[in-house]
Amino acid sequence: HRHLLGIEHLSQSDITAILDLAETYVDLNRQSAKHSDVLSGLTQINMFFENSTRTQASFEIAGKRLGADVMNMAMQASSIKKGETLIDTAMTLNAMHPDLLVVRHPHSGAVDLLAQKVNCAVLNAGDGKHEHPTQALLDALTIRRAKGRLHRLNIAICGDVAHSRVARSNLILLGKMENRIRLIGPPTLVPDHFAEFGAEIYDDMNEGLRDVDVVMMLRLQKERMDGGFIPSEREYYHRYGLDAAKLALAKPDAIVMHPGPMNRGVEIDGTLADDINRSVIQEQVEMGVAVRMAAMELLARNLREVA
Ligand code: CP
Repeated sequence: HRHLLGIEHLSQSDITAILDLAETYVDLNRQSAKHSDVLSGLTQINMFFENSTRTQASFEIAGKRLGADVMNMAMQASSIKKGETLIDTAMTLNAMHPDLLVVRHPHSGAVDLLAQKVNCAVLNAGDGKHEHPTQALLDALTIRRAKGRLHRLNIAICGDVAHSRVARSNLILLGKMENRIRLIGPPTLVPDHFAEFGAEIYDDMNEGLRDVDVVMMLRLQKERMDGGFIPSEREYYHRYGLDAAKLALAKPDAIVMHPGPMNRGVEIDGTLADDINRSVIQEQVEMGVAVRMAAMELLARNLREVA
């Protein structure tokens, strides 16, 4: 592959190859000396047109640990503010010969469009409600490490599915790896058409969570509910927030996931999110660095073969 734009373009064996390489980086990242030279001589530019903590920091750390020259474009201070378009911005940076462009954008499809205009490898760091492929890959690695496999698991994805690129990329990845997926949430946030992904839809947490191996909570994304129905946080937490009582319906060894950032007391109880016996939220963040190192290494190998 030339780019990493979405899970929809990856096969089962592509996914396994990324996760297997990422495993080697989990070990490297736990050492005191964390350096490798596999991206040495390459230039990585991170362009985040939407806020980020985890994705931006981990792509920067991943590039630096692999020896790339990494530049973070401060989009708020760029000529975008003077009216320069996304494509003109991308073409301008392209003329400086970067090798890897990491892009987050609020509009679905914007990263694919940009990838058609530049000569370097593009990694999608989240585009609107469309895809967030490295998030799904880091979630997959976390699940595989916790459960010992990434197939034939019962996985519940709960909450604001409608506005979530994380849910979409996970639905595609976990479906390709032959898991059984349940989507749980109010019909306004889990529309029927999501059944097209092969998932079962529930609007009752007490039914949907029964005997699942993995509970993946999603952030209520109020910033994407422009003009639509915004649920009251109290009511939402009561019906759809994950707490110990609801989790007790899942398998006794079910893990709790959340991509972050979390709304404590809205979609998840804060104490449960911090319970290291059940929650793998911090491990998800750790896996994010390893998965991004692996994804960039595989794209860089391809760049070198083409050159
Ligand atoms: N999970 C995730 O994408 O977090 P950020 O928005 O902080 O990058």
